Amino acid sequence: MEVLIKESYEEMSKQAAEMIADIVRRKPRAVLGLATGSTPVGTYKELIRLHKEEGLDFSKVTTFNLDEYVGLQHDHPQSYHYFMAENLFNHININPKNTHVPDGTAKDIPAFCQTYEEWIVKAGGLDVQLLGIGGNGHIAFNEPGSSLGSRTRVKTLDEKTRQDNARFFKNMDEVPKYAITMGIGTIMEARQLILLANKESKAAAIAQTCEGPVTAMVPATIVQLHPKATIIVDKAAGSKLSREYPAEPHILVVS
Ligand code: F6R
Repeated sequence: MEVLIKESYEEMSKQAAEMIADIVRRKPRAVLGLATGSTPVGTYKELIRLHKEEGLDFSKVTTFNLDEYVGLQHDHPQSYHYFMAENLFNHININPKNTHVPDGTAKDIPAFCQTYEEWIVKAGGLDVQLLGIGGNGHIAFNEPGSSLGSRTRVKTLDEKTRQDNARFFKNMDEVPKYAITMGIGTIMEARQLILLANKESKAAAIAQTCEGPVTAMVPATIVQLHPKATIIVDKAAGSKLSREYPAEPHILVVS
């Protein structure tokens, strides 16, 4: 596991975008796992810039998002369908048919969750999964106590998560109670993980994720078991880490 502590949110975002862009340049048919929330917005801005100014080509890329609220229509401003369109898909040359966000309006949600897993496998698996982290250590909507081997399914949101997200809705009653989320087992099958965190409010969760024991009570700690995981944080989110994290050498072959 590699931990990169960046000076600012902008630098964190640039680093994540560059890593994703590198995958897309090397593999034009890359399958990207994407996240929503405030954390990855800067990464998406930078990817849009790389597309517009440097021709980064998304025409053959496929994407799968981590999660979606149950019951929100795709054009609801707080739905993750809407978020992805606004923050990324509408600004790059991706084929909308290749973008996938769980369908919170599906009639048979368990059947949809199974299909979503099958779509990921059919696409060839996730080359990279971008992750944010909740203040309680959740990844996607896998709240504390979620099975570390879980698959895509419907989950009840923690009260803390609902309160954190209440700022986006008119009142608490409007905040959805359920979400479809990729499971922790699903996420761990991605070939690479990039977990981002900024702000002080994430510092405790990041310290546990990097330095605490692996536990279902802090779902993000599972990334310690992934063979290719990078955690990128700004100074504030890294402020409770107890050890130094020197940059890992990326030159593996010395001639
Ligand atoms: C969203 C997601 C969530 C968020 C987390 C942090 O797709 O998977 O786990 O990453 O709740 O949210 P922000 O970035 O808004 O602090």
